[in-house]
Amino acid sequence: MGARDGAPELLQAPAADLASREYPFERADFERVRRLIFAYAGISLNDGKHNMVYGRLARRLRATGMRSFREYLDRLENDRAFAAVERQQFVNALTTNLTAFFREAHHFPILAEYLRAHAARGDLRLWCAAASTGEEPYSLAMTAIETLGPGTGVRILATDIDTQVLAHGERGIYRVDALGPCGAERVRRFFLRGTGANEGLARVRPELARLVSFAPLNLLADDWSALAAFAPMVDVVFCRNVMIYFDKPTQRRVVDRIARVVRPGGLLFVGHSENLADQRAQFAARGHTVYERIGA
Ligand SMILES: C[S@@+](CC[C@H](N)C(=O)[O-])C[C@H]1O[C@@H](n2cnc3c(N)ncnc32)[C@H](O)[C@@H]1O
Repeated sequence: MGARDGAPELLQAPAADLASREYPFERADFERVRRLIFAYAGISLNDGKHNMVYGRLARRLRATGMRSFREYLDRLENDRAFAAVERQQFVNALTTNLTAFFREAHHFPILAEYLRAHAARGDLRLWCAAASTGEEPYSLAMTAIETLGPGTGVRILATDIDTQVLAHGERGIYRVDALGPCGAERVRRFFLRGTGANEGLARVRPELARLVSFAPLNLLADDWSALAAFAPMVDVVFCRNVMIYFDKPTQRRVVDRIARVVRPGGLLFVGHSENLADQRAQFAARGHTVYERIGA
Protein backbone atom coordinates (compact mmCIF):
# COMPACT_ATOMS: atom_id res chain seq x y z
CA MET A 1 0.00 0.00 0.00
CA GLY A 2 1.01 3.63 0.16
CA ALA A 3 1.78 6.69 -1.87
CA ARG A 4 4.36 4.78 -3.87
CA ASP A 5 1.46 3.23 -5.72
CA GLY A 6 -0.11 6.61 -6.40
CA ALA A 7 -1.91 6.94 -3.07
CA PRO A 8 -2.75 10.37 -1.70
CA GLU A 9 -0.19 12.62 -0.07
CA LEU A 10 -1.27 11.97 3.52
CA LEU A 11 -0.26 8.53 4.72
CA GLN A 12 -3.08 6.06 4.71
CA ALA A 13 -3.95 5.73 8.35
CA PRO A 14 -7.46 5.00 9.59
CA ALA A 15 -9.62 8.13 9.52
CA ALA A 16 -9.86 8.18 13.32
CA ASP A 17 -6.04 8.22 13.61
CA LEU A 18 -5.69 11.09 11.18
CA ALA A 19 -8.37 13.11 12.91
CA SER A 20 -6.70 12.70 16.30
CA ARG A 21 -3.18 13.49 15.06
CA GLU A 22 -1.53 16.42 16.69
CA TYR A 23 0.81 17.07 13.73
CA PRO A 24 0.26 16.53 10.01
CA PHE A 25 2.41 13.62 8.83
CA GLU A 26 2.84 13.68 5.10
CA ARG A 27 4.25 11.12 2.77
CA ALA A 28 7.32 13.29 2.22
CA ASP A 29 7.94 13.39 6.01
CA PHE A 30 7.79 9.60 6.25
CA GLU A 31 10.19 9.26 3.30
CA ARG A 32 12.65 11.62 4.97
CA VAL A 33 12.51 9.66 8.23
CA ARG A 34 13.06 6.48 6.26
CA ARG A 35 16.07 7.92 4.45
CA LEU A 36 17.62 9.28 7.63
CA ILE A 37 17.27 6.15 9.77
CA PHE A 38 18.49 3.96 6.91
CA ALA A 39 21.54 6.12 6.33
CA TYR A 40 22.44 6.25 9.98
CA ALA A 41 21.40 2.87 11.42
CA GLY A 42 20.77 0.68 8.36
CA ILE A 43 17.20 0.19 9.51
CA SER A 44 14.77 -0.32 6.61
CA LEU A 45 11.27 0.87 7.52
CA ASN A 46 8.52 -0.50 5.30
CA ASP A 47 5.26 1.27 4.51
CA GLY A 48 3.47 -0.63 7.27
CA LYS A 49 5.52 1.28 9.85
CA HIS A 50 4.08 4.75 9.27
CA ASN A 51 1.74 4.77 12.29
CA MET A 52 4.54 3.50 14.51
CA VAL A 53 6.88 6.20 13.18
CA TYR A 54 4.28 8.90 13.74
CA GLY A 55 3.60 7.77 17.33
CA ARG A 56 7.25 7.54 18.30
CA LEU A 57 8.42 10.75 16.68
CA ALA A 58 5.42 12.85 17.72
CA ARG A 59 6.84 12.47 21.24
CA ARG A 60 10.15 13.91 20.06
CA LEU A 61 8.39 16.85 18.39
CA ARG A 62 6.61 17.56 21.65
CA ALA A 63 9.81 17.23 23.69
CA THR A 64 11.76 19.57 21.41
CA GLY A 65 8.92 22.07 20.93
CA MET A 66 8.68 21.63 17.15
CA ARG A 67 5.48 22.59 15.38
CA SER A 68 5.67 20.17 12.46
CA PHE A 69 7.56 17.14 11.19
CA ARG A 70 9.03 19.32 8.48
CA GLU A 71 10.51 21.70 11.05
CA TYR A 72 11.82 18.81 13.16
CA LEU A 73 13.42 17.05 10.18
CA ASP A 74 14.85 20.30 8.79
CA ARG A 75 16.55 20.95 12.10
CA LEU A 76 17.78 17.36 12.30
CA GLU A 77 19.32 17.59 8.84
CA ASN A 78 20.58 21.17 8.82
CA ASP A 79 21.12 22.42 12.35
CA ARG A 80 24.32 20.91 13.70
CA ALA A 81 23.81 21.88 17.31
CA PHE A 82 20.27 20.47 17.31
CA ALA A 83 21.36 17.27 15.54
CA ALA A 84 24.26 16.74 17.94
CA VAL A 85 21.76 16.19 20.74
CA GLU A 86 18.67 15.03 18.92
CA ARG A 87 20.01 12.48 16.46
CA GLN A 88 20.57 9.94 19.22
CA GLN A 89 17.02 10.52 20.52
CA PHE A 90 15.68 10.10 16.99
CA VAL A 91 17.48 6.75 16.69
CA ASN A 92 16.41 5.64 20.18
CA ALA A 93 12.80 6.41 19.25
CA LEU A 94 12.90 4.33 16.08
CA THR A 95 14.62 1.14 17.24
CA THR A 96 12.63 -1.92 18.22
CA ASN A 97 14.07 -3.46 21.35
CA LEU A 98 12.08 -6.63 21.97
CA THR A 99 14.19 -9.17 23.84
CA ALA A 100 14.01 -11.71 26.66
CA PHE A 101 16.22 -13.76 28.98
CA PHE A 102 17.34 -17.00 27.30
CA ARG A 103 15.53 -16.08 24.10
CA GLU A 104 16.05 -18.81 21.49
CA ALA A 105 17.11 -21.14 24.26
CA HIS A 106 18.72 -23.77 22.00
CA HIS A 107 21.73 -21.45 21.58
CA PHE A 108 22.83 -21.57 25.22
CA PRO A 109 23.88 -25.25 25.49
CA ILE A 110 25.96 -24.71 22.32
CA LEU A 111 27.60 -21.67 23.95
CA ALA A 112 28.23 -23.72 27.13
CA GLU A 113 29.87 -26.49 25.10
CA TYR A 114 32.13 -23.97 23.36
CA LEU A 115 33.15 -22.39 26.68
CA ARG A 116 33.91 -25.80 28.19
CA ALA A 117 35.98 -26.87 25.19
CA HIS A 118 38.05 -23.65 25.32
CA ALA A 119 38.15 -23.20 29.11
CA ALA A 120 41.92 -23.67 29.18
CA ARG A 121 42.37 -20.25 27.55
CA GLY A 122 40.71 -18.65 30.54
CA ASP A 123 40.14 -15.20 29.01
CA LEU A 124 37.36 -15.90 26.51
CA ARG A 125 35.78 -12.78 25.02
CA LEU A 126 32.11 -12.69 24.05
CA TRP A 127 30.43 -9.86 22.13
CA CYS A 128 26.70 -9.30 22.27
CA ALA A 129 26.21 -6.95 19.32
CA ALA A 130 22.54 -5.87 19.66
CA ALA A 131 22.15 -6.24 23.38
CA SER A 132 19.01 -4.14 23.86
CA THR A 133 18.04 -3.87 27.55
CA GLY A 134 20.57 -6.47 28.73
CA GLU A 135 18.60 -9.70 29.05
CA GLU A 136 20.73 -11.32 26.34
CA PRO A 137 24.22 -10.45 27.66
CA TYR A 138 23.17 -11.42 31.20
CA SER A 139 21.94 -14.76 29.81
CA LEU A 140 25.43 -15.23 28.34
CA ALA A 141 26.97 -14.33 31.71
CA MET A 142 24.77 -16.81 33.60
CA THR A 143 25.76 -19.52 31.11
CA ALA A 144 29.45 -18.67 31.58
CA ILE A 145 29.27 -18.82 35.39
CA GLU A 146 27.28 -22.07 35.35
CA THR A 147 29.79 -23.63 32.95
CA LEU A 148 33.11 -22.31 34.28
CA GLY A 149 32.35 -21.17 37.83
CA PRO A 150 32.02 -17.74 39.45
CA GLY A 151 35.74 -16.92 39.07
CA THR A 152 35.58 -17.28 35.30
CA GLY A 153 37.78 -15.00 33.20
CA VAL A 154 35.07 -14.77 30.54
CA ARG A 155 34.08 -11.18 29.74
CA ILE A 156 31.12 -9.96 27.74
CA LEU A 157 30.84 -6.72 25.80
CA ALA A 158 27.21 -5.67 25.32
CA THR A 159 26.67 -3.06 22.60
CA ASP A 160 23.69 -1.46 20.89
CA ILE A 161 23.00 1.67 18.88
CA ASP A 162 20.28 2.74 21.33
CA THR A 163 21.72 4.51 24.39
CA GLN A 164 18.48 4.31 26.36
CA VAL A 165 18.37 0.51 26.32
CA LEU A 166 22.07 0.36 27.22
CA ALA A 167 21.38 2.47 30.31
CA HIS A 168 18.67 0.01 31.29
CA GLY A 169 21.06 -2.91 30.83
CA GLU A 170 23.70 -1.19 32.91
CA ARG A 171 21.19 -0.64 35.75
CA GLY A 172 20.40 -4.36 35.58
CA ILE A 173 16.96 -4.04 37.11
CA TYR A 174 14.10 -6.12 35.68
CA ARG A 175 10.51 -6.93 36.51
CA VAL A 176 10.36 -10.23 38.37
CA ASP A 177 7.75 -11.48 35.91
CA ALA A 178 10.29 -11.07 33.07
CA LEU A 179 12.66 -13.55 34.77
CA GLY A 180 10.47 -16.59 34.02
CA PRO A 181 12.70 -18.02 31.26
CA CYS A 182 15.66 -18.11 33.71
CA GLY A 183 13.94 -20.65 35.95
CA ALA A 184 13.65 -20.48 39.75
CA GLU A 185 17.18 -21.75 40.47
CA ARG A 186 18.89 -19.04 38.38
CA VAL A 187 16.62 -16.35 39.77
CA ARG A 188 17.72 -17.34 43.31
CA ARG A 189 21.36 -17.50 42.36
CA PHE A 190 21.77 -14.49 40.10
CA PHE A 191 19.19 -11.89 41.19
CA LEU A 192 18.39 -9.85 44.29
CA ARG A 193 14.69 -9.29 44.79
CA GLY A 194 13.49 -5.83 45.69
CA THR A 195 11.40 -5.17 48.76
CA GLY A 196 9.08 -2.35 49.81
CA ALA A 197 8.92 0.23 47.02
CA ASN A 198 10.97 -2.15 44.83
CA GLU A 199 8.63 -5.10 45.29
CA GLY A 200 8.17 -6.87 41.93
CA LEU A 201 11.65 -5.83 40.73
CA ALA A 202 14.94 -7.71 40.79
CA ARG A 203 18.53 -6.58 40.29
CA VAL A 204 21.33 -8.69 38.81
CA ARG A 205 23.83 -9.69 41.49
CA PRO A 206 27.34 -8.19 41.32
CA GLU A 207 28.88 -11.59 40.41
CA LEU A 208 26.87 -11.42 37.17
CA ALA A 209 27.23 -7.69 36.55
CA ARG A 210 31.04 -7.83 36.79
CA LEU A 211 31.23 -10.01 33.66
CA VAL A 212 29.30 -7.58 31.44
CA SER A 213 30.21 -4.10 30.20
CA PHE A 214 27.90 -1.93 28.11
CA ALA A 215 28.91 0.50 25.36
CA PRO A 216 27.26 2.15 22.37
CA LEU A 217 28.20 0.75 18.97
CA ASN A 218 26.47 1.28 15.64
CA LEU A 219 27.00 -1.84 13.53
CA LEU A 220 26.92 0.36 10.45
CA ALA A 221 29.41 2.98 11.55
CA ASP A 222 33.13 2.92 10.79
CA ASP A 223 33.83 3.44 14.46
CA TRP A 224 33.90 0.11 16.30
CA SER A 225 36.39 1.45 18.83
CA ALA A 226 34.35 0.12 21.78
CA LEU A 227 34.96 -3.38 20.44
CA ALA A 228 38.63 -2.73 19.66
CA ALA A 229 39.12 -1.49 23.23
CA PHE A 230 37.49 -4.67 24.55
CA ALA A 231 39.54 -7.20 22.57
CA PRO A 232 41.42 -7.43 19.26
CA MET A 233 39.55 -10.66 18.43
CA VAL A 234 36.52 -12.25 20.07
CA ASP A 235 35.59 -15.89 20.54
CA VAL A 236 31.83 -15.62 20.27
CA VAL A 237 29.41 -13.10 18.77
CA PHE A 238 25.70 -12.97 19.46
CA CYS A 239 24.18 -10.78 16.73
CA ARG A 240 20.58 -11.83 16.96
CA ASN A 241 17.38 -10.27 15.63
CA VAL A 242 18.98 -7.08 14.37
CA MET A 243 19.96 -8.02 10.82
CA ILE A 244 16.27 -8.55 10.02
CA TYR A 245 16.02 -4.73 10.03
CA PHE A 246 18.82 -4.44 7.44
CA ASP A 247 18.58 -4.99 3.70
CA LYS A 248 20.71 -7.72 2.09
CA PRO A 249 23.74 -5.59 1.09
CA THR A 250 23.85 -4.11 4.60
CA GLN A 251 23.62 -7.57 6.20
CA ARG A 252 26.48 -8.74 4.02
CA ARG A 253 28.65 -5.78 4.95
CA VAL A 254 27.99 -6.24 8.66
CA VAL A 255 28.70 -9.98 8.56
CA ASP A 256 31.92 -9.34 6.56
CA ARG A 257 33.05 -6.98 9.25
CA ILE A 258 32.09 -9.36 12.07
CA ALA A 259 34.08 -12.09 10.30
CA ARG A 260 37.21 -9.95 10.69
CA VAL A 261 36.90 -9.86 14.47
CA VAL A 262 35.96 -13.49 15.23
CA ARG A 263 38.78 -15.96 15.85
CA PRO A 264 38.91 -18.92 13.49
CA GLY A 265 36.89 -21.64 15.21
CA GLY A 266 34.85 -19.00 17.05
CA LEU A 267 31.06 -18.88 16.85
CA LEU A 268 28.48 -16.44 15.51
CA PHE A 269 24.89 -16.81 16.71
CA VAL A 270 22.13 -15.11 14.68
CA GLY A 271 18.37 -14.77 15.13
CA HIS A 272 15.72 -17.30 14.16
CA SER A 273 14.89 -15.68 10.82
CA GLU A 274 18.44 -14.73 9.86
CA ASN A 275 20.96 -16.82 7.96
CA LEU A 276 24.40 -16.56 6.46
CA ALA A 277 23.72 -18.57 3.31
CA ASP A 278 25.66 -16.02 1.24
CA GLN A 279 28.77 -16.11 3.38
CA ARG A 280 29.90 -19.71 3.30
CA ALA A 281 33.52 -18.71 2.68
CA GLN A 282 33.64 -17.17 6.15
CA PHE A 283 31.14 -19.11 8.23
CA ALA A 284 30.07 -22.77 8.25
CA ALA A 285 26.77 -23.84 9.79
CA ARG A 286 27.18 -25.58 13.15
CA GLY A 287 23.54 -25.93 14.13
CA HIS A 288 20.34 -24.00 13.68
CA THR A 289 21.39 -20.31 13.27
CA VAL A 290 24.87 -21.01 14.70
CA TYR A 291 27.96 -20.53 12.55
CA GLU A 292 31.67 -21.25 12.98
CA ARG A 293 34.31 -18.87 11.63
CA ILE A 294 36.40 -20.77 9.17
CA GLY A 295 39.71 -19.95 7.54
CA ALA A 296 42.50 -17.84 8.89
C1 LIG B 1 14.81 -6.75 18.40
S1 LIG B 1 16.19 -6.21 19.35
C2 LIG B 1 17.06 -7.74 19.56
C3 LIG B 1 17.70 -7.86 20.92
C4 LIG B 1 18.45 -9.15 21.19
N1 LIG B 1 19.60 -9.29 20.32
C5 LIG B 1 17.56 -10.34 21.07
O1 LIG B 1 17.66 -11.10 20.09
O2 LIG B 1 16.72 -10.53 21.96
C6 LIG B 1 17.18 -5.35 18.11
C7 LIG B 1 18.22 -4.42 18.70
O3 LIG B 1 19.11 -4.01 17.65
C8 LIG B 1 19.48 -2.67 17.90
N2 LIG B 1 19.97 -2.07 16.64
C9 LIG B 1 19.26 -1.64 15.57
N3 LIG B 1 20.07 -1.13 14.62
C10 LIG B 1 21.34 -1.23 15.11
C11 LIG B 1 22.62 -0.87 14.59
N4 LIG B 1 22.76 -0.30 13.40
N5 LIG B 1 23.70 -1.11 15.37
C12 LIG B 1 23.57 -1.69 16.59
N6 LIG B 1 22.39 -2.06 17.12
C13 LIG B 1 21.28 -1.83 16.39
C14 LIG B 1 18.21 -2.03 18.44
O4 LIG B 1 18.47 -0.85 19.16
C15 LIG B 1 17.63 -3.16 19.29
O5 LIG B 1 17.97 -3.03 20.64
